[in-house]
Amino acid sequence: MSKLIPVVAVADLPPGARLHFDLAEESVILLNIDGDLYCIADLCTHDGGPLTDGNVCDHQIECPRHGARFDVRSGRVTRPPAADPIPTYPVRIEDGIILIEEPDYW
Ligand code: FES
Repeated sequence: MSKLIPVVAVADLPPGARLHFDLAEESVILLNIDGDLYCIADLCTHDGGPLTDGNVCDHQIECPRHGARFDVRSGRVTRPPAADPIPTYPVRIEDGIILIEEPDYW
């Protein structure tokens, strides 16, 4: 059964902001894009580079190392050299707190 992990207050992640979290099994990035929240793994599938400092444009994050892009909504690759998608994680808000849904396989 999946578990919800509280990470930060909604007020602390305004539109345009992003935060990195080291969870028990995974490092993730939480992004607020125009008021919508997205959570992705902080790990490029091309060569394992972190995505934390990657540019974000049109719901795509670009890996700073070799330029692969991923859609933060689905994790799918939108530009090589990466071939495989990155994991994405459901996000919820309860009582003003953002929660990340921990998948069963962690
Ligand atoms: S490590 Fe991300 S594109 Fe190469």
